[in-house]
This record gives sequence, structure tokens and C-alpha cells, in this order.
Amino acid sequence: MADKVTASAPGKLVLFGEHAVVYGKPCIVTAVDQRLYVTVTKNGENAFHLSAPDLGLTAYSKTIDKLGGEGLPTGVRFIEVLYKRFLNDHPQTRGIDVVTRSEFSSSFGFGSSSAATVAFAMALFAVYGVEVSKQELFEICYQTVLEVQGVGSGFDVAAAIWGGTLYYVSPGKVVEQIKTGELPIVVGYTGIKADTPTLVRQVAEFRRKNPKTLEGVFNQIGVIVDKAKKALEEKNVTLLGSLMNENQQLLAELGVSSVELDTLNQAAVKAGALGAKLSGAGGGDCMIAVSQQSYGMGYSVLGIERSQKQNKNKYINIDKVRTAINQRGQWLDVKLGAEGARLEAGS
Ligand code: MEV
Repeated sequence: MADKVTASAPGKLVLFGEHAVVYGKPCIVTAVDQRLYVTVTKNGENAFHLSAPDLGLTAYSKTIDKLGGEGLPTGVRFIEVLYKRFLNDHPQTRGIDVVTRSEFSSSFGFGSSSAATVAFAMALFAVYGVEVSKQELFEICYQTVLEVQGVGSGFDVAAAIWGGTLYYVSPGKVVEQIKTGELPIVVGYTGIKADTPTLVRQVAEFRRKNPKTLEGVFNQIGVIVDKAKKALEEKNVTLLGSLMNENQQLLAELGVSSVELDTLNQAAVKAGALGAKLSGAGGGDCMIAVSQQSYGMGYSVLGIERSQKQNKNKYINIDKVRTAINQRGQWLDVKLGAEGARLEAGS
């Protein structure tokens, strides 16, 4: 058994169905090709040491009998709570050193907490030679996220574990891979960090006051998600675009869009995108837009390779959308449908 194991998990982006997924509707989430790495080393002491510079924390130390409790720094909460649960189940084990490294900013809304929780859990189980299935990993990580955050559908945990593009129903009731191939989806960052639990609670409050209205909105979002699943499988970008616009409209009715998100969505559509929407809890973070199919730019949509000459107008479209987003926010160069959690070489 190795004394040191590194695992990694991808960040995520919601394509369709945010918020409604908290109320039993399906959503579609995709893993991005930017990852968060966690290294766990047995230290032979009764101590827990953590260095997580990307989560805003370095040189954090505790004896293992003091784990958990109130007022833990945000960056450490998920990891510490999960570790405490692990120690309860495996009291014979001793302390660990944990080091995290992220390829993405925790401001993007890519789910850095879930990716950290999943990568940490995978490395922790592996370093002690405890075998767990993906489903078991999901249960442990999702329970941890709920304990720390109080709310959440768990789709971000599922994306971090399984990767790819998932049709998901909470709490892990349905986790189904959607085969999409590469799609001309552009991701933009508003520059503003959103606070997911606050926005989820805000929608809950809205629902408490207007249960009928919100039930109607969630039902409509559920229908959009099912249509989007089919559109993704058929690579029908025109339909995907109009479904994004419809979903965005409903999210705006929930009150979770923002001036910055609207600005980026409108800029993308003006530059030729077929549709755009916020991605995630809203209030900031990221938006997504779908452009025309672009051939010869690393995209092989519909499995058809065509020359740049034949599709001159389509070829430039995705670039125009990226530029428009970059002028008002930040275009993020990420690939979707990335690999789920894995142990890294040498572990
Ligand atoms: C946040 O990225 C998405 C929400 O649906 C919350 C959740 O599903 O946990 C708003």
C-alpha cells in the first residue's frame, strides 16, 4: 500500500435545469477539462495537516481528535468533515497530510468544493486500501456536501465522479451518460463570484410565497431538460440554442439572472450564437452559449469533416461569439465532457 496517493476530479458546468433539479426535476451537467488534484500522505502522527492554496488556505493543522466543529474555514470544511466521517468508520487509521492544487479558479462556479471533496475521498480511500464503488463514493461525498452546505442537488458531485455529460436526477436517483461528441458551446465568466447556497435559499423563499408559480416554472424547465437531452444526442445545435434561450427566460423569472449575465448572453447572441443562458446558481459565475457548428476548429460535429472553404460563414461564427464574450467578460477555454475522478500516475 502506497503511503502517498494523488487523485483528481474535474470541475463542472450545468448545461440545463439548474434550480429545478433541487426540486426533483432532471438536469444536464458536464465535466470540464480543468481538474482539481488532491494528494494524501499518511504522516504516522495523530495530526491532520492541510495545504490548499487554491481554496484559500495554507498550513492548516489540527490533532485528529479536534476535527470538525463550528467555524471551520470554507476551504477546509468539506475535506475535514469527510475525513472525520472516515475516521469514525476506520478508527485504526492515523493522521494525514493533504495538499490540493487546482487548475481552475474557485470563483468560476466550476464546483471546486465538490471536486475537492471527491478527489480527497478517492485519494483517502486509496491510501488506506479501502475499496469503494463510484456509487459509494457518491453517497459519502454527497452526504458531506449536505452536512457542510445544507442544500444542493448533488449533480456537481456526480459530475466530479462520473465525468462526461450527465442526465441527472437528485439525489443520484438517475445518473445517465449522454453521448454528445464535441459541441460548439462557448463558456463565459462574468467576473463575479456567486454564492450558491444563498441563491438556492432565495429561490426556496420565492417558492414558499408563490408555490403554484414556481411549480409551473420547474415543470417547464423539466420539459426543456428532456428536450435538450435529445437535442444533445442528435447534435441539433439550433434546437439547443432555442432551449437555452427558453431556460434562461425561466431562470430570469426565478430572479437568479443578473445584469452581467444578461449582458454576456445578449452579446453572444448578437455575435451569432444560436442561444445563451446562465450556467449554475446565477447571480454571477458563468454563462454558456451555443454557436453554429464550426468545422476545422477541432470540432467534428455530426461526425462530418468539411473544409473551411465550404463553411466559411460557419467557421468564423464561434470565434465571433468568443470575442464578443471577451469584450464584456472572460471567455474560458474549456472542453466539455471530460473524464471523471481518477487516481493519478504514481499512486
Ligand atoms: C448550482 O450550480 C445549481 C443549483 O441547481 C444548486 C444545486 O443543484 O445544487 C442552483
